[in-house]
Parts: sequence; C-alpha cells; structure tokens
Amino acid sequence: MKYSDKILKTPSSFIRNILKVASAEDVISFAGGLPNPISFPIDALQETINKAMEVHGPKLFQYSTTEGYLPLRQYIADKYNRSYGLTIDPEDILITTGSQQALVLLSEVLINKGEGIIVEEPGYLGALQAFSLTEPTFYPVQLKNEGLDVEQLERTLEENPSIKFIYTVPNFQNPTGITYTAENRNAIYEVLKNYDVVLIEDDPYGDLRWSGEKLPYIGAGRLENSVLLGSFSKTVTPGFRLGYIITKNKELLYHVNTAKQATDLHTNIFSQIVIHDYLVNNDLAAHIAKITDLYETQSNAMLAAIAKYFPPTVTYTKPEGGMFIWVTLEEGMSALELFQKAMNDKVAFVPGDPFYTNKTNVNTLRLNYTNSSPEVIEEGIKRLGKILYEVTTKELV
Ligand SMILES: Cc1ncc(COP(=O)(O)O)c(C=O)c1O
Repeated sequence: MKYSDKILKTPSSFIRNILKVASAEDVISFAGGLPNPISFPIDALQETINKAMEVHGPKLFQYSTTEGYLPLRQYIADKYNRSYGLTIDPEDILITTGSQQALVLLSEVLINKGEGIIVEEPGYLGALQAFSLTEPTFYPVQLKNEGLDVEQLERTLEENPSIKFIYTVPNFQNPTGITYTAENRNAIYEVLKNYDVVLIEDDPYGDLRWSGEKLPYIGAGRLENSVLLGSFSKTVTPGFRLGYIITKNKELLYHVNTAKQATDLHTNIFSQIVIHDYLVNNDLAAHIAKITDLYETQSNAMLAAIAKYFPPTVTYTKPEGGMFIWVTLEEGMSALELFQKAMNDKVAFVPGDPFYTNKTNVNTLRLNYTNSSPEVIEEGIKRLGKILYEVTTKELV
C-alpha cells in the first residue's frame, strides 16, 4: 500500500511510545502530561448530565452548528472580557474538538506545502505533529527564561517571507513551564505589528496560576491577525474534547469554519451543552483553586527535591503555574541515554528530543509533577539525582 507523503512525514507521538514503557506499575513516572483526576468534577457533572437530559432532551443527541453552541460561546466571551478586558463577541468564537483540532484547522487554512511556521524551541510536541500534516517549513525561535528570543524572531521574519504564522504558548508553556514576561510580550507585539502574519496564542494552562500576576496576552485585543486558543481540558475534563478558537478576523474564522465542516461537521453537542450547564451552575473559580492548590504543592515538592538531590550543574525552570518543569543537564549529556538508565531504576521522564524540530540527543528533559504525591515525587527525584551523580559527562556523551 502506498501512503501520502504528508502522513509518512508526520512523526507518531514519541511521548505515547515512552508512556507505554513508563506505565508499568512499579515505575515512578514524571513522563505523562495528564491532568490529575481531581480536575474532573465528577459528581457535579453527573448531576448536570441527569438534569440536562430532562431539560434539553433530543437537542443533546441531534446534529448541531459548526461554530458551536451559542450559550457556550457567550460564556467564553464573557469570561475573557471580564478577566482580560477584551471585547470578544460569541461570533468571534468557534468551538473545536479540543484545542488540538484548532491547531490542525489553522495550519490547513493557512499553510501551503513548504510555507513557514515559527515555533518555540523547545515547543509543544502535539503542535509540531499537527502542523506537520501540512508539510510546512519550521523556523524554530529559541525560548528563553523570559519568553521568545525577540531578536531571533525579528530576523527570522525578515529573512523568510513565506512565514504565515507564529505559534506560542505564553503561559506555563509545554514543555518548559516558562511564562513570557510582560516586557517580552510587548517586545513581540512591537515586532509583529509590522508583519502580515498570524499570531497564535495557545493558552490551555492560563487559569492554573498559583503565583505571580496574570498578564495580558501578546496579541489578543490589539493585533489584527491574533488568534487565541483555549481549552476545558485542564480545568474541567479533557475527555469531553472541548477547545475553542477566538479571533476578531472574520475572514480567517470563515475559512476555519469551512475546514471544520469538512473535518467533523461540528464539535460534540452533548459535551458542549453539558459543560455549559455545568459552568453556569457551579463555582468554576473554586474548582480551579482546588486544582492549583494541589499542583502548587506538587511543584514545590519537585523543586525542593531537585534542589536537594540534583548536582548543582543542573538547571531547571520554576513554574508559576501549569504542569511542567524543564531540566537542562550539563553540556554534552544526552537525556535519551539518561532515560535508559532511569528506566532501569524505575523512574521515567520525557527526554527533550521530540520538542525540537531539528535537534537530537539534547541535554534537556521534561518533568511532569501533577500525578504523583509529594512523597513519590521526592523518591523519584532522589533516584534521578543518584544516577546524575553517578554518570560522568563522558559516559553520557
Ligand atoms: C500547549 C498545548 N496545546 C494544546 C493541547 C491540547 O489540548 P486539548 O485537550 O484541548 O486538545 C495541549 C495538551 O496537552 C497542550 O499542552
């Protein structure tokens, strides 16, 4: 059988393969990226579903509109307008099958084979995979502690007129946990306002903040070609597969709507109605506070264990929210080789390699803390630290 070039060029998820190895019962796994089940308000959803059956009847089971359930879009618009002082209307919103689908739709609408996409380096693996389906040319721009390397961003845009969009995760980025500073956001805005490119701000983690101040978006509300993506996966449930695209660019949204029609007609209407009823009848802020309290405790436990057990040459990010810590080993070390050794000691993480578009054998790795207790986190990091002290740079080259 002969397959399309584009599917043959799209990498299958490296993390899923690692998760298979890491899911054995006796392994302490920091490899996953799943929300803790505490973020699923199961009792409240049960009650909502029962009531929704009575109130909405067949509407829950019928075909629906491509742009999504209007009351849900109104709820989303109100939330962003209240929290960020934006002026979003429901017409500016399209509900997607998770924000993952938004990534596929946007690249389908914007990218011809070979055209350019700027991505963060390191960047969200699922986005790299989604964009790969349109066979683009990736232009990675380095992610530093304060955000994107603005000089490199400007140079890359200047030198590559085929670039159609820039993909960013400005809050608690996956995989690094980094949040762009206010200054960095402004500097990016100052560059982008001079270019005819789309800025995608993908923000599934923004509500999961436990320290620092909530910051205004880079482009939302001020760049004409701004696209904001959101998701209920990390705050309510990923299983409902509910995400959304927000943009004031009507032409862009029209084309996304056409691509969505062709893909799946519309997002699951049962989930949309149920989540809307859940959101209006429950205290989402209180629910999110429960999640962030837990993640803060877990993140602190991991940071304290790293400080205690890792060699001082290892550097790492200190997230203000979200689900990940990014670790940089000594120059020349290979996280992939460390992974093999760590598996022998029954502890798992994701080596940095799949988060880069053009690098292998990197010295970086991602740790997820949301699914282990502080005690298990300490034990896992202790094991990793022991290996790190044992191996010399030479052994891991
Ligand atoms: C940065 C980022 N964008 C998008 C997604 C996909 O989320 P969803 O469940 O909304 O499709 C994830 C999931 O982990 C993510 O980390």
